[in-house]
Amino acid sequence: MLPGDGIGPEVTAAAVECMREAGAAEGLAIDCTYLPVGGDAIEQCGEPLPAETLAACRESDAVLLGAVGGPKWDRLPRPKRPESGLLALRASLGLCANIRPVRSHRPLVGVSPLRADVAARGMDVLIVRELSGGLYYGTPSRCRSRGGTRSAVDTMRYDEHQVERVVRLAFQLSARRRRGVLSVDKANVLSCSRLWRETAQRVAADYPGVALEHMYVDAAAAELVLRPWRIDVLVTENTFGDILSDLAGAAVGSLGLLPSASLGHSSGPGLFEPVHGSAPGLAGRDLADPIGAILSASMLLMYSGPGESGRRAAARIESAVMRVLDAGYRTPDIAEEGSKVVGTSAMGDLVRRAIRDDGHGRGGPASESPTNE
Ligand code: NAD
Ligand code: IPM
Ligand code: MN
Repeated sequence: MLPGDGIGPEVTAAAVECMREAGAAEGLAIDCTYLPVGGDAIEQCGEPLPAETLAACRESDAVLLGAVGGPKWDRLPRPKRPESGLLALRASLGLCANIRPVRSHRPLVGVSPLRADVAARGMDVLIVRELSGGLYYGTPSRCRSRGGTRSAVDTMRYDEHQVERVVRLAFQLSARRRRGVLSVDKANVLSCSRLWRETAQRVAADYPGVALEHMYVDAAAAELVLRPWRIDVLVTENTFGDILSDLAGAAVGSLGLLPSASLGHSSGPGLFEPVHGSAPGLAGRDLADPIGAILSASMLLMYSGPGESGRRAAARIESAVMRVLDAGYRTPDIAEEGSKVVGTSAMGDLVRRAIRDDGHGRGGPASESPTNE
């Protein structure tokens, strides 16, 4: 457990309660070790990813993280910033794919900023974001002053195998869904994107049952708000995936709703974290939406839990979230007229109780109801 900064501790507290309740319903006891990361770790240990934190992550079955960063640490040089701790953690655990499911939930159709007829058609997009390369890790990356003029450089670099493994994952995931991969790049300008597109085309030959479409990233941004129902799995490089996933979160009503799973090519632990950041303006005020963190805990049980009981525990969490939303409970970010507005911890309690009542009541998770089913 790496609660981190800002709203991180509040949303992860809610997520852990739900994870424990769902685990208990399936006979799973979950051992949690709490460690500092990001700004919290800078304050406690002087660095954003202490060796002790990384070692404990490596020994765990899975890592649940809240968020890192905040204004207090924004002036630090880049390697010392909270965000560098998160990037180092992803790299050290060999996490190369970040899966960000974006689903519109029927009770939240009115919260979407999209035009009513677009929102009503719903969306169920799986964003697969490459997580190990691109501008985030390419060198050189620095700012310099020469003759009174400052200049800066970052490097977008991709090796073919980095592209191939994440595109392959996208095809595998899509084969179990609506069998369409949208590969997003900027191949009309960038060399990395031409490599990306050629690799995607080559990999596609191994998945004849899944359709491959290419789109430039600017057009894909528009597609996400104009015709989001057309997209099944969207796979893209690191920076594009970062940007498009916040946009997609806004489209379904709130960034606070989105969970994610970062998976690696090794057998080490996965990292599960909401897509949102530390939201300094909401921190410590019991205002943050914990659903993204709660659904991240569900993804943790799904991907890192012990097989069938983990998957059942994950389904219990998802179904409980839907029932709480169906009953009209909302944190302020997703409140509408007539909503029962609650805070972070009350929302966590409501979901936990819904998991418990489901376990004791009907004896199994109810099916959820995305708008496009
Ligand atoms: P942010 O995601 O923290 O906030 C963006 C907007 O979304 C804000 O209006 C915020 O109030 C709202 N929001 C975010 N999460 C919410 C939630 N759970 N419930 C309700 N509203 C929510 O992004 P930012 O403001 O650009 O960045 C703040 C800090 O977080 C920065 O230091 C940034 O580097 C860091 N950050 C960290 C992560 C991470 O740890 N994975 C992700 C993004 C940003
Ligand atoms: C995210 C965040 C991070 C990223 C930052 C905090 C480094 O925005 O997880 O989306 O850009 O990957
Ligand atoms: Mn981001």
